[in-house]
Amino acid sequence: MLERDPYLKIRTAAKFDGSIWRQYESPSYLFVITSLGRQLLREHRTFGDFTRYNNDYINGRDNPTAFRSYLAEGRSGQVFTLGNDLVVKEAKPFGDSLFGALNRMDQLIDALQKNCPSWIDVPAHYGLAISKTDTSKQFMLMQKIDHGVTVGDIMSTRESYSTRTNLGSLSALALDKFGPITPELQEEVKERYESLKYLAKRAVLKEGLNPDVYLPDIDYPYNVVIEKLATPIAGSRIKYSIIDQ
Ligand SMILES: Nc1ncnc2c1ncn2[C@@H]1O[C@H](COP(=O)(O)OP(=O)(O)OP(=O)(O)O)[C@@H](O)[C@H]1O
Ligand SMILES: [Mg+2]
Repeated sequence: MLERDPYLKIRTAAKFDGSIWRQYESPSYLFVITSLGRQLLREHRTFGDFTRYNNDYINGRDNPTAFRSYLAEGRSGQVFTLGNDLVVKEAKPFGDSLFGALNRMDQLIDALQKNCPSWIDVPAHYGLAISKTDTSKQFMLMQKIDHGVTVGDIMSTRESYSTRTNLGSLSALALDKFGPITPELQEEVKERYESLKYLAKRAVLKEGLNPDVYLPDIDYPYNVVIEKLATPIAGSRIKYSIIDQ
């Protein structure tokens, strides 16, 4: 997709950790590709079928297609699956800029990897496409974490948490994997979530960063995607991936 565009301009940016990001500009889009995104491109040449994804996007928001299938949403974005391994977060109009988010998440990954047990993770963030004609049209490409079940989804059968709107395919498919949502499971998920909040904030502080900037939304339990593991990691049978900070 990128290679075929004759008007392409390319810029390079060195990041704090020595990795290299690239910025490509075509007549219609600005692409920011992270170091991990460049690696993915080298291996697969394209981001899944982003071109076809984009065609499906242009042709209508509400029809799920083979290349763009609704997964879930929050207040500022809608998340669609792109193939088996990727998700695309589409910014909602007037939502926060995804460019700032991409940079924050990059710093956050670094701080967590250095200072947290490995059951705490952040999905790989591959890049961003921003429409040049309408900058509210922004797409962020990320690694897909299982089916997108969050701490909030497991806890929501308790009265204290309200279920999110537009669950889409999430509830049926995804919750199944956890088996029956017993009070014991809810307790386990909640306890580890409390530890995660403490450990993640401490990790950010250790790197000289401000948790209010790098973990502003960690207290919202729909911003932590969880996966049930067959083999425990660092003593946990559930892996927690922080998103959307
Ligand atoms: N990388 C991912 N892998 C799997 N599911 C994801 C991923 N990113 C997001 N999701 C799903 O999409 C939902 C919404 O994502 P996200 O929190 O990024 O949107 P948002 O609109 O910014 O939310 P908020 O209301 O917190 O602002 C998540 O709760 C989760 O279920
Ligand atoms: Mg969110």
